Amino acid sequence: MVLSIVHSNDSAGAYIECVKSTVVQKMHSMFTRTSGLSRALTAALLAASAWASQAQTVDVAAAEALAKKSNCTKCHAIDKKKDGPSFQSTAAKYKGKADGEAKLTKHITTGPKVKIDDVEEEHQIVKTKDAAEIKNLVQYILSR
Ligand code: HEC
Repeated sequence: MVLSIVHSNDSAGAYIECVKSTVVQKMHSMFTRTSGLSRALTAALLAASAWASQAQTVDVAAAEALAKKSNCTKCHAIDKKKDGPSFQSTAAKYKGKADGEAKLTKHITTGPKVKIDDVEEEHQIVKTKDAAEIKNLVQYILSR
């Protein structure tokens, strides 16, 4: 009888221990899940802000290298007119226009007809197929 009381006490104790550890485990997993979540959120926020600041930062060296490689610099300079308009005047022309980036991207990727000394020729196409490189060059021009 005594033994059975002790036993039942024991099992009650064991039961309580078991409930306690389940609760602790649950809380623990809740905690790790939330902190995992907030870690994921923090990472996402960091990535987003890195992306946002990247979207504004032009890789000048890469843009100039691509312009040189594509012979753009033969007809364009940053601040003076050559056969083509200076990048500064193009930037001024498209300043604040929502479709500026799209227009310039089209201009340097599709080879539209342009007149140079009254002779019509196809405008130079940029020498890359990489959309990010093209975007960087367009943003470089727009930010002169
Ligand atoms: C053979 C000379 C020549 C080369 C090479 C050349 N361009 Fe041009 N570009 C011109 C001329 C001329 C115009 C003016 C066209 C017009 O206004 O009708 C022009 C216009 C532009 C414009 C202004 C477009 C607009 O809508 O106002 C941009 C930007 C431009 N070129 C970028 C480039 C880039 C980038 C390259 C290299 C991939 C390049 N150009 C290579 C001659 C050239």
